[in-house]
Amino acid sequence: MSLSWSSKDHKNTNQAAAAGQKRLRNDAGNKVSVVLGAQWGDEGKGKVVDLLATEADLVCRCQGGNNAGHTVVVDGKEYDFHLLPSGIINSKSISLIGNGVVIHLPGLFEEGDKNDKKGLKGWDKRLIVSDRAHLVFDFHQVVDGLQETERQAQEGKNIGTTKKGIGPAYSCKASRTGLRVCDLLGDFKDFSTRFKNLVHQYQSMYPALTVDVEDQLKKLKEYAERLRPMVRDGVYYMYEALHGPPKKILVEGANAALLDIDFGTYPFVTSSNCTVGGVCTGLGIPPLNIGDVFGVAKAYTTRVGIGAFPTEQLNAVGELLQTRGHEVGVTTGRKRRCGWLDLVIFRYAHMINGFTAIALTKLDIMDVLDEIKVGVAYKINGKRIPHFPANMDVLHKVDVEYETFPGWKTDTSAARKWNDLPAKAQNYIRFIENHIGVPIKWVGVGKSRECMIQMF
Ligand code: GDP
Ligand code: IMO
Ligand code: MG
Repeated sequence: MSLSWSSKDHKNTNQAAAAGQKRLRNDAGNKVSVVLGAQWGDEGKGKVVDLLATEADLVCRCQGGNNAGHTVVVDGKEYDFHLLPSGIINSKSISLIGNGVVIHLPGLFEEGDKNDKKGLKGWDKRLIVSDRAHLVFDFHQVVDGLQETERQAQEGKNIGTTKKGIGPAYSCKASRTGLRVCDLLGDFKDFSTRFKNLVHQYQSMYPALTVDVEDQLKKLKEYAERLRPMVRDGVYYMYEALHGPPKKILVEGANAALLDIDFGTYPFVTSSNCTVGGVCTGLGIPPLNIGDVFGVAKAYTTRVGIGAFPTEQLNAVGELLQTRGHEVGVTTGRKRRCGWLDLVIFRYAHMINGFTAIALTKLDIMDVLDEIKVGVAYKINGKRIPHFPANMDVLHKVDVEYETFPGWKTDTSAARKWNDLPAKAQNYIRFIENHIGVPIKWVGVGKSRECMIQMF
């Protein structure tokens, strides 16, 4: 073959490429449906996943760790999931923890055992864990706490992390000192050496950190054997799932758009990509296989931890939403901060994720309000800004422009279809839909599985 490209070669190459493209497109395989948080977390993703998981063959987590807390209520029984995908509740589907997740093994088994006692039998037979997932060690969690204390001392404020070791574990991953599931299951001598090196590294940064290395290694060796039967090459597993017989595959996002390491209210964010890109990198699947992307948002807004929150209501409205909505963190037990729905952040989440439909949850919590406000724009010096500010000082200073709606003052918790909702509630929902420009597919009016109005 000549080095220079004749026009004939070029033509042949183009034809070959086109044929390849066509083959790839034809072979694209199954699509995954994705459920993502559109606010600062706790939007009700677990409930939406549970609803879809009743028909799913495979439910995957692609990012985050046990900082997530997803509540599912079935037949009056409440489950909270942290590392396990909420689909684990469906005995007919497989759950997968992808490479993008960081796994604290004591946390994983504690969660599994707790759910086992609640009646969720056989979860460990239905769970697949990627060999490329990074591990969170107990000392990562201690360091998470030490870093928070340091932030408080140096800057007068911390992030308000869940202290689950998420930041330190993802830092290790990025700085290439992290240890993965495949390392734990490989040569344990090598693993032990790298573990000890990592401990030394952290102890040189944090002299107060004490780690009983031998005890930790003994426990990790035991966890390794419990984990081994669940571990697969995650990329190959997903490839087979995508290209085998038709399958319903669901991805459960953890945390949310405004907590995303790149797009969230940095630095008051978590340490992973909680937006749609995290699905591809956290599972090893092509963008072509992403199908529906469902954005989940509450009918108002909440936030746990520190950071700007333009529509926050530090008044009776905020207190009412907090108490009626039982807005307490599933993972940390902290009270969630509450405020009006913010359509600026919702639109921003849609710009990044390209939602194909929306689940609007907790409408019932607003049933008693006389008047409801919705943030529709941010203003700086009286002028509307078209984008969502990157800089937190700017975000703290924005003035929110609100639209005001009359409250419907009717109990919606028994509504099961659109026509059961009062006209004023319908009006509120339609306004949100039109403003975002994405259809609302579900409206939540209660905790349980059946309390979800399906619109189409
Ligand atoms: P996730 O982290 O996004 O899965 O959400 P969480 O489970 O942390 O928080 C959502 C809370 O709201 C849970 O206690 C759910 O049971 C509850 N919830 C979800 N949807 C609704 C709804 O439509 N109405 C009411 N009243 N509660 C809901
Ligand atoms: P789910 O999946 C709400 C918040 C923490 C803190 C910040 C960083 O249940 O929606 P981290 O421990 O991740 O380093 O904490 O992110 N945060 C969440 N807030 N819901 C979550 O998950 C969260 N995951 C992290 O409160 O402000
Ligand atoms: Mg939660």
